[in-house]
Amino acid sequence: MSESATSEPSTGNPVIIQGGMGAGVSSWRLAQAVSRLGQLGVVSGTALDPILARRLQDGDPGGHMRRGLDAFPFPAMAERVWQQYYIAGGKAERTPYLSVPPLEKDIPRELAELCIVANFVEVFLARQGHANAVGINYLEKLQTAHLPCIYGAMLAGVGYVIMGAGIPLKIPGVLDSYVNHGPAEYPIHVHGSQEGDDVTMRFDPREYMERELGPLTRPKFLPIVSSNTLATTMLKKANGRVDGLVIETRTAGGHNAPPRGRPLFSEIGEPVYGERDAIDIAKLRELGMPFWLAGGYGNPEMLREALAQGAAGVQVGTAFEFANESGLRADYKRELLAKAIAGEARVFTDPLASPTGFPFKVAQLEGTCSDAEVVAERPRICDLSFLREPYRTAEGGLGYRCAAEPVTLFVAKGGKLEDTVGRKCICNGLLANIGYQQVRNGKREEVGLITAGDDLVTIARFLQLGRTEYSAVDVISQLLSGCEAPQVLEPCDDFCFA
Ligand SMILES: Cc1cc2nc3c(=O)[nH]c(=O)nc-3n(C[C@H](O)[C@H](O)[C@H](O)COP(=O)(O)O)c2cc1C
Repeated sequence: MSESATSEPSTGNPVIIQGGMGAGVSSWRLAQAVSRLGQLGVVSGTALDPILARRLQDGDPGGHMRRGLDAFPFPAMAERVWQQYYIAGGKAERTPYLSVPPLEKDIPRELAELCIVANFVEVFLARQGHANAVGINYLEKLQTAHLPCIYGAMLAGVGYVIMGAGIPLKIPGVLDSYVNHGPAEYPIHVHGSQEGDDVTMRFDPREYMERELGPLTRPKFLPIVSSNTLATTMLKKANGRVDGLVIETRTAGGHNAPPRGRPLFSEIGEPVYGERDAIDIAKLRELGMPFWLAGGYGNPEMLREALAQGAAGVQVGTAFEFANESGLRADYKRELLAKAIAGEARVFTDPLASPTGFPFKVAQLEGTCSDAEVVAERPRICDLSFLREPYRTAEGGLGYRCAAEPVTLFVAKGGKLEDTVGRKCICNGLLANIGYQQVRNGKREEVGLITAGDDLVTIARFLQLGRTEYSAVDVISQLLSGCEAPQVLEPCDDFCFA
């Protein structure tokens, strides 16, 4: 295994956390660029299994995946993944990608291997060329992925595990167990489950190891929460060490916490938040934990304010989403940046789009799934299924359903008809956002469903005079321009951007 994968990342709290952006928007390239500049780069851990599979089917341009696979400590496993998916020169443009089966409670061995390898490769690549920490972000709701994925990320020496969209009370125990390659368990939420049902996932690294390895570094663990109550619950009830908290507010890109109390909507149908949704920063400080504020903090004034309020720093997503190094497709980046420059960028907080039921921020762009006509033309196909919900079947078994799948199927599985209204296939949209859109019948292509925070309207601020694009260094320099403390490290050569 290469030295950079085993050596300890430098620690010390970052002032800027580049927020995890799934799927593949905060790719290894973006996280590497941010960490090289002395802040915390975070790869998205969402859906890395199909992402690796699709990169390999595209012929692994630049050979980056191969470089990651060569560093993987269990070569036979890496080779199996390569053999299964790699297509020299890439698949034909109109040929669909080979599908990767969705993850379930009892993951077949070859899928678990793909998860371990894919998470390793993403973190390994993000760690190359510098000695700073790199984090990985997971969504707690995607529970069936956690156990093999986290092990893969830890094999690559991930410095932080950051987790939102749920209450990850049982993750610290998993991290502790993996330090010595010990077995781990994770209880999954099964709709309608009854006492006595087996709802626990199990994973034993030793069943996968091809040779003995030394202990792994225990990453720091930062849950993402959106209320004081959840912050306190995490600290009181987690089954191991929590190292800090990310506090995310409703202006943040991606999924948002729903408003508390009776649902209210604005004239244009966005959820309305009230006083009960406000965060009490003084109470947060009393918890005595480092914390980072997220949601609209992508500018020097807000960073200064966060530091003045006692935060260790801020977590920023949207500003980095449109930087050159992010995984978002170049055409989407260009078009949304042009809208921001023209003062025409809009983000809609859609209360229905996400099958999770959480409000989901959607950047408005013609020809993508923000457009009702585009959505109406798309057959309800559910073949990636990251957001499926496990449920107890009438026979007492385990089934999986998604409110964005074909309506009759969802209802036949016991889902409620009203829950299907307005739901969009976020999974296919997310993969299309990063250029891995599936081809249907050799003709139609899936199109993107782009999420961005309310800060989308302000991103033109990162453009230098006369430029139409910007990089991570522009974001970090501008954010830190009002701070006394840490300065931007000089970027080193672009040694691994092919
Ligand atoms: C494109 C995009 C995708 C995101 N995906 C995730 C995700 O997968 N997991 C997560 O915890 N947060 C996600 N977020 C939230 C960010 O990590 C971050 O907290 C947020 O963007 C901060 O607010 P800002 O967008 O105003 O800077 C996403 C944000 C964006 C813009």
